[in-house]
Formats: sequence, structure tokens, C-alpha cells
Amino acid sequence: MCPQCKKNELGEYPLEIGSVLTEKEIGIIEGILICTNPGCRCEYPIIDGIPIIVADIREFIRQSAYSIVKRNNFSEKIESLLGDCMGPGSMHDSIRQYLSTYGYDHYGDLDPGEPEDSEEKPGSILGLLSESLPKKIEPVDGPILDLGCSVGRTSFELSRIFNGMVLGIDLNFTMLQAAVQVLKTGIFTYPKRKLGLTYDRKIIKTDFMEDKNVDFWACDVLNLPFSDALFSFGLSLNLLDCVSDPYLHLQEIQRILKPGSTAILSTPYDWNQNACPVENWLGGHSQRSQAKGKSERVLRSLFAKGDHPHAIKNLELMFEKQNLPWTVRVHHRSYMKYSVHLMGLKKMRQQNKGKI
Ligand SMILES: C[S@@+](CC[C@H](N)C(=O)[O-])C[C@H]1O[C@@H](n2cnc3c(N)ncnc32)[C@H](O)[C@@H]1O
Repeated sequence: MCPQCKKNELGEYPLEIGSVLTEKEIGIIEGILICTNPGCRCEYPIIDGIPIIVADIREFIRQSAYSIVKRNNFSEKIESLLGDCMGPGSMHDSIRQYLSTYGYDHYGDLDPGEPEDSEEKPGSILGLLSESLPKKIEPVDGPILDLGCSVGRTSFELSRIFNGMVLGIDLNFTMLQAAVQVLKTGIFTYPKRKLGLTYDRKIIKTDFMEDKNVDFWACDVLNLPFSDALFSFGLSLNLLDCVSDPYLHLQEIQRILKPGSTAILSTPYDWNQNACPVENWLGGHSQRSQAKGKSERVLRSLFAKGDHPHAIKNLELMFEKQNLPWTVRVHHRSYMKYSVHLMGLKKMRQQNKGKI
């Protein structure tokens, strides 16, 4: 539904396909979605096979302009020369670093070029995913939402595991382009950082090509363009501390889940003023308070039986795991090791009044 109408509290208006400009096997590559509200008619482009369904579409396009218009077929030598010229701190540089970090963790395990005996093996995200799921997988009766999917490995894995429809959403257009590339071609290509401005180009073959159950959209997890109670499973790995309003993120998860469905949330609570203002952090400050500034305590107190004034009343804490490893590779001499808190949450069948 239209995120602009939702934001302005005008009601739920579905989007319709306004134009299809390029279409391939996997779907619409270029096109325009239009809000059906005659008073809105906001246009949402589909670019490189990625529907961009965010409330402030102009701001998104402005922010993502570099990723949207950049060429991605330079030879490795020209790519490295451009990298040297644009220098550290440039958009080019931060995109390469981000692709390097998440590319390695999501697909590095499929790269035959990765040394077997490396101390920091890729794939910590797969470890977190397996900690998230029960031993016995029950079929789900509706779509699955992978929130903050980045380059998309967890979306492909969820589709395999549940044999169901999975939508991966993120706001980083370059990461979504890389995920869609896997969907289109089965190939994941990324620059793996060595040091400074030096990178190796990695080309990894996967068997995720044309998975008909997976799609990737650009959406804001703080204003999800979906009606209530639509999804049967939600996954939010390492996202809570990256959004500007973690509480709203939890409310949105609660809203879009079907009653009785599960959401998994993991976070290293790596609060950072650039991503989220201090007053919105869940813990990480006010250590004089009852929760002593402990983020896990504050988060726990928000669910179901908690008496927190802002309790998210319809999400019940089912299980939690502490200190799970999540490793983020910076370059070949630097890794960041996080200790992650993971929670399994269930949307209650009997809805508590007051909050959705
Ligand atoms: C720390 S990364 C984690 C990625 C992935 N889940 C993983 O664990 O490897 C957080 C991701 O959330 C995305 N993100 C941040 N804020 C978002 C928002 N408001 N809506 C959608 N995605 C967002 C970022 O672009 C990034 O890809």
C-alpha cells in the first residue's frame, strides 16, 4: 500500500502497476507503480527490478542517486583507478566497503577461493539464522519478511527452509542491486577489501538463480507499505540499533505479523548517534534507572507481560539466546566481533486492547 498515504494517515491505498517499461523472466525490470488514491497518485519507480516503495521517494532517489546511475561493468583495473581517484570517504568508497563486509559474510562460504583454514570464516549470518529457527520447521501459511536483508543471503535461505514466499527489504539500493543480481543470474559479485583502497573482485556462483519465491524491494522498516497481519514470519537480524526509531521498528513488526506468527530479532546493541538519537536508544544510557541502562533489560520489559508504559503488548517473548557470535570483516587484517542478543517473539492470538 501507499507509504505516503499511510504516513499522512489518509488510509490504506493499494498501489497499481502504472507502466511496464522493461520486463524479463523474473518480472518487471523497469516500471512505475502508482497510488490508487485519486488525491495522491504518488509514483513509485521500479528500477533494476527493485520496486522503491518509500514515503519520501524524492529524498530516497536523491540519497541513492549514485547507486542508481552508477555503471557496474567497469573492468577491475579501471574500477580500482576510480577508487584511488575518488578516495577514502567518497560514496564509491563507502559502497565498496559495505559490499565487501556484507558480501563476505553472506556469500563468502560459497567462494571456493576462500582458504579452508582461515581463522575468521565467512558465514556468521548463517550461524545466526540457524540459531533463530526451531529444529523442526513447520510450514508457514503466508509470506515471510526479511527486514534489513542487505545483500539477500538470508532471504534465499528462508525460501529454501520454509519453501515459501520471501520478501527481502532494505533501504540500501546497492545491496538490493547485488541481491537482485543473484536472483537474475545466480552470480554474486563483490569487491573484497584487502587494505585501504585496494580490493579483489570476487565472483561467486550460487544456485539461487530465478528463485520464484524470492523478491527484493526498497522499503523503510519504520513505515512498512503493507497492511496489518500479512506476514507469517519476520526476521530482523542486526537491524534494531541501525534504525532511527527502534521502538517504531518493533511496533511495525507487531503490526504486520499474523496472530500466532513468529518474529526473530537479533542485535548487538551497538548504539551510534549517527544512526539513532540517544533518546531513542533502548538502554545504553541512564544507568541510574531501574534497568541500569542495560539494553537487553529494556527490550525484554517491552514485551507482552512487561508493565512498561510503552509495552508492545501483542508480542510475547518466546525464547532468547545471549552472546551469539556475529563477525563483521573490515579488511584482511581487521574483523569486528559482536556478541549478539537474539529473541524469538510471537504475536499473540488474543489481541490486547490499547495497542495494535
Ligand atoms: C547491520 S546491517 C545487517 C544486515 C543483515 N541483516 C545482516 O545481519 O547481515 C543493517 C541493514 O539494515 C538496513 N537498514 C537500515 N535502516 C533501515 C530502514 N529504516 N529500513 C530498511 N532497511 C534499513 C541497512 O541498509 C543494512 O543493510
